[in-house]
Amino acid sequence: MIENFINKVFCNDARLLLQRLPTASIDAVITDAMYGTAKSFQYDWGADPARGNPEKHWRYHEPIYRECLRVLKPEGVLAWGQGGKFVPHFRQWFGDHRVWTLTRFSKTALLAIGNIWVVQTKEQRPIEFPHRDSLVMCDRAKYLPLRKLHPCPKPTEELAFMISSLTKPGQIALDCFCGAGSTLAAAEALNRKWIGSDLSRRYCQIAMKRVADARMLPVLPAGELRDGNSAACSVVGSAP
Ligand SMILES: C[S@@+](CC[C@H](N)C(=O)[O-])C[C@H]1O[C@@H](n2cnc3c(N)ncnc32)[C@H](O)[C@@H]1O
Repeated sequence: MIENFINKVFCNDARLLLQRLPTASIDAVITDAMYGTAKSFQYDWGADPARGNPEKHWRYHEPIYRECLRVLKPEGVLAWGQGGKFVPHFRQWFGDHRVWTLTRFSKTALLAIGNIWVVQTKEQRPIEFPHRDSLVMCDRAKYLPLRKLHPCPKPTEELAFMISSLTKPGQIALDCFCGAGSTLAAAEALNRKWIGSDLSRRYCQIAMKRVADARMLPVLPAGELRDGNSAACSVVGSAP
C-alpha cells in the first residue's frame, strides 16, 4: 500500500526502499544522484564509491534508476539531477530524454551555476522544458547555512521549479537520494505528497526538520501555495 510510505523519510538504501514500493504507484521521481564530479564529495557515511569513474558510477546507480522507472505510473515523470561530467553518457544510460538546465541567481549576483537534469517519462520519452524562465532566484541567506549541513544541497527554490513544472497538487513525488531534503521541503510547501530516503540518518533528520519548516514558510511559486492544513505525520525509519 503506497499510503504507508507517504510523507515519510526512510533512512535506507534507495534500492531497498524502491523494492518495497508497489509498481506504478508514484507520479514523479525527482531526485539528485551523487554527482561524481571532480570534487569527490565526502558524505557523512563515506565518499562516493565511484569517485567520478563513469562505469562505476552507473553500476552503482543503474539498478536504482531501473527501480525508479518501475515504480512510476504510466506517463509518470523522472527528473534525475546529474553531474555535467557525465553528459556524454546520458543517451546510453537514460535512453531518450531532454536535458533541463537551470541557472541560479541571487539578488546580488548571477551565481552562474548550470544545474543539469535528465527529464523523461517512465516510457523514456523526453519531456520538453516548460514555457517559463530557466533562471531560479535563490535566497543565499537560506542556502549558505545548508552547505554546513550537507556537502551538496540543492536550493529549495530549484526543486520548487522542478516540482511545480512536473507535478500537480496532491500527486506523489519521490526523492530516493533526498540529502538535506530540498525536494521534500518544496513538495510539502507546494501541497504535493512526498517520499524520501537517504543512507545518512543525519541527513534524513535534517530533511525532516526542513519539511516541518516548509509547512510554516512555503516556497515559490506563490500561485501554488497550499492552504496551511497540516500534512500527515512524518517519521524517519526503515521501510515497512
Ligand atoms: C547529491 S546528494 C542529494 C542532495 C539533495 N538534493 C539536497 O538538496 O540536499 C546525493 C545524496 O544521495 C545519498 N545517497 C547516496 N547513495 C545512496 C543510496 N544508495 N541510497 C540512499 N541515498 C544515497 C547521499 O547520502 C547524498 O545525501
